[in-house]
Amino acid sequence: MQPKSLIELIDMQDKRGKFITFEGPEGSGKSTHIKLLVEYLKEKGLKAEVLREPGSTQIGEKIRQILLDTALGDMANVCELYLYLAARFQLIQEKITPFLEDNKIVICDRFNDATMAYQVYAGKCPEFIMTGFNNFINEMNVGPDLTILLDVDVRLGLKRAASLRPADRIEKKGAEFHDKVRQGYLRLAKKYPERIKVISSVGEMDEVQLRIREKVNEILQ
Ligand code: TMP
Repeated sequence: MQPKSLIELIDMQDKRGKFITFEGPEGSGKSTHIKLLVEYLKEKGLKAEVLREPGSTQIGEKIRQILLDTALGDMANVCELYLYLAARFQLIQEKITPFLEDNKIVICDRFNDATMAYQVYAGKCPEFIMTGFNNFINEMNVGPDLTILLDVDVRLGLKRAASLRPADRIEKKGAEFHDKVRQGYLRLAKKYPERIKVISSVGEMDEVQLRIREKVNEILQ
């Protein structure tokens, strides 16, 4: 739904649910911390809709299979970027927008910052493609209210990820690529300090989760 005036836009933003995204290099523990956060919200009587990117729609999951397929090693960087955006737009239209209009809490495992970090900073895609898409996202009022950036040393994270499953096409890009991803994320956090909160995922799981909950509580008040 497009706002017709500034007053209508402010009104829509007031009524909108909350959109929280989780980001981080490989093996940063996003899935575990999302699960723990959902349990915590449930204890508080709040239900959250959990989504993942790419995926969480039938079309998005098919695109995910292409993106992560290790047999497709030579994908052009811009082809890769547009596939992520295609899956994202489907998710926005099918789920994120309706959930937010329904005043729900939406938690998404990765979103736009991932494309900036992986495809633009590390993958060297032209940034202007994302500038256009970002404007589009702002117009649709689906920008995240809060982004938790779980930071981890890349070698440690890749080791953690490798202990859970075989490496996918993106994980196979190697430590140097993933170091750039991490630096890209940290640059984004510096650029958007109000929205992106960097939390080190190294250390006691309970303490990390506590810090996440503090940040989430701030936006739920
Ligand atoms: P996941 O392992 O966190 O589910 O994400 C799937 C992979 O896709 C992961 O290696 C990060 C990568 N990715 C990008 O490269 N660009 C993106 O825009 C997104 C959402 C994920």
